[in-house]
Amino acid sequence: MLPSEEIDLPSPTGCSIITIELMSFPIDRPRRLRSNITMRRMVRETRLTAEDFVYPLFVCPGEGVKQEIEAMPGNYQMSVDEVVEECREVQALGIPGVILFGLPDTKDLKASGAYDDDGTIQRAIRAIKAEVKDLVVISDCCLCSYTSHGHCGQIEDGDVDNDSTLKLLAKTALSQARSGVDIIAPSDMMDGRIGVIRETLDCNNFTDLPILAYAAKYASGFYGPFREAAKSAPQFGDRNSYQMDPANQREAMREIELDIDEGADMIMVKPAMPYLDVIHRAKQEFDLPVAAYQVSGEFSMIVAAGQNGWIDQQRVMMESLTSIKRAGADLILTYFAKDAVGLL
Ligand code: PBG
Repeated sequence: MLPSEEIDLPSPTGCSIITIELMSFPIDRPRRLRSNITMRRMVRETRLTAEDFVYPLFVCPGEGVKQEIEAMPGNYQMSVDEVVEECREVQALGIPGVILFGLPDTKDLKASGAYDDDGTIQRAIRAIKAEVKDLVVISDCCLCSYTSHGHCGQIEDGDVDNDSTLKLLAKTALSQARSGVDIIAPSDMMDGRIGVIRETLDCNNFTDLPILAYAAKYASGFYGPFREAAKSAPQFGDRNSYQMDPANQREAMREIELDIDEGADMIMVKPAMPYLDVIHRAKQEFDLPVAAYQVSGEFSMIVAAGQNGWIDQQRVMMESLTSIKRAGADLILTYFAKDAVGLL
């Protein structure tokens, strides 16, 4: 911009050069578009809608069971009948889908509850599909809540053995498929699992069943409350030999690429808010729908701080969800789904 002394300025008000200099200083005034709520809504870049969300549910054995999860206020372990009621409510709110986690009757070394055709997840899938038409039912496909040791696979020599675990995962996916699930979501982080599951599904006439791969799943401290909810905490060691190092972003791109090559239809980044850079980059580099999982610890932190009066819970909830969508998520798995829709 030219210094104002050099411009021949008409001065109808007769104001001095000094005043004109001051007035013309900020030509760009972004505050003009923030002056009132209607204006702000008009120029808003990121909008949350009910269709953005997937609501996670924990299914347990029994009937009439609805047990609140201590570390996740407002979330419950529910028996199949209660889960069906919950799904009706979710659908009435316009939320398109739920993701199911199962708690089995018994746990063992081979995670047999995971691929039991009469297991909790399988019964829940059948019941929801029969009673709540058009709700998309996603099943988490993992072994950790079904193994006696709480790891996501078979243990050999003190660590999770990759290739023998793949067989159990394929059996689990097939059992979920036979129950009528709409999307399979493998969350174990074994190498090659998407390929093995895709092949198993295809060989069994489930060629049209999509896979949502937990492609970039980090070894995160934010899963703490979930492990209480799903009773899936590892009894020894940790998950660092299969879930990703939180320090790595490029490795996430490699994990995602492998899952896509093996047949994933959608990819996921998990957790969400501590990994917005990963979500953003995944959205730039890949053309598949990108899901992000706002995990239990992200939820519980916001709720706990809200309950203490340290933050405005509803405001921070909406801000956190907006940040995840702004980063590039096409779909957000969140325990806030119902609350958020209530505020839209
Ligand atoms: C199973 C699984 C976990 C979560 C989703 N699927 C736990 C884990 O990996 O320990 C975490 C979800 C959450 O914290 O909300 N592998």
